[in-house]
Amino acid sequence: MGYKIAMLPGDGIGMEVLQQALKVIEEIATLYRHDFSTLQARIGGVAIDEIGMALPPETLKLAKRCDAVLLGAVGAPKYDDPSLKERPENGLLALRKGLKLFANLRPLKVYPELACETIFKPGNIRAVDFIFVRELTGGLYFGKPKKRWVSNNGRQAVDTLIYTESEIERIVRVAFELARARRRKLTSVDKANVLESSRLWRQIVIEVAKDYPDITLEHMLVDTCAMRLMLTPSDFDVLVTENMFGDILTDETAVLAGSMGMLPSASLAGIPKAGQRVFGLYEPIHGSAPTIAGKNIANPIAAILSVAMMLRYSFAMQKEALEVEKAVRRVLKSGYRTADISSRAKGIKTVTTDEMGDLICDAIKGIRYAKD
Ligand code: IPM
Ligand code: MN
Repeated sequence: MGYKIAMLPGDGIGMEVLQQALKVIEEIATLYRHDFSTLQARIGGVAIDEIGMALPPETLKLAKRCDAVLLGAVGAPKYDDPSLKERPENGLLALRKGLKLFANLRPLKVYPELACETIFKPGNIRAVDFIFVRELTGGLYFGKPKKRWVSNNGRQAVDTLIYTESEIERIVRVAFELARARRRKLTSVDKANVLESSRLWRQIVIEVAKDYPDITLEHMLVDTCAMRLMLTPSDFDVLVTENMFGDILTDETAVLAGSMGMLPSASLAGIPKAGQRVFGLYEPIHGSAPTIAGKNIANPIAAILSVAMMLRYSFAMQKEALEVEKAVRRVLKSGYRTADISSRAKGIKTVTTDEMGDLICDAIKGIRYAKD
């Protein structure tokens, strides 16, 4: 049986990194005799330029017909003007909503080879291995009212932080399920000392926890969490939080990995369980990086690790997913780096986007590197 993958390169470096992801998909298909077909469509700035909409209806339709979506990045400086109606980011938000992708998974593992490249003491971060579960289709991003108007007090604007109990419950269950397959620790992040929506959140977490007595649960205020993630990041296993908190905290933690170019993500439409398939969109968490677009220097590892997540969650191909992750590890161990993670240290070789893609494919094939 074949799988259909929607490829949405989007803007900036999106196309370059997805091309490397595609090579990896083809490598896995050959090696494991899978039948993957890819269909490309427009989203973001390129879609506005060519069609006038950040998410053309045909792109959403195509995504719905596929088994998974692989996305590059959206955004370009020419759309920064806040008075613009249509912006590239709208395309991604509409896609998340349109595909009901409520669960955003952002894993963060520090590669020992890169621990020295960060601003942290290597000893403090070497053991970092956690995953954020960010609610993705509710909260401030989508709550109504969301508008601007002119009143007697001048211009006003409102965004609404609203959650229903079912929205909270389903994301919390995703987090508990993931914790069960990991180190069985869950941190629920909220602002329950101030926000009513957070108090509801906390109550529902406590209720759902009754179904997971094997999981150690802690509640943490978001401001404390922002600090603890920098001070003692290896204490965390699974974290669950609402949309906006998750957006901010995951950018903060990206610094632990040495580069945004290392971090994949999955946005799922259901609760992931071992051996089951769930529809999802997979994307590197870095943006479109317009200043380096077209130069063949972007780091494709985040896109390639996103392919691994796609294999794991949408196709239930755990072995293949691990193979891709191990290949990345082997290439890093051998000293190859794209510019964002490179250094002058002995044995380090700086390579292009394209070369990094090829090296990872070779590692998947077992060429050049000893198997570990
Ligand atoms: C992210 C991005 C998006 C978000 C933007 C591009 C809409 O920052 O995926 O974290 O805020 O969710
Ligand atoms: Mn973000």
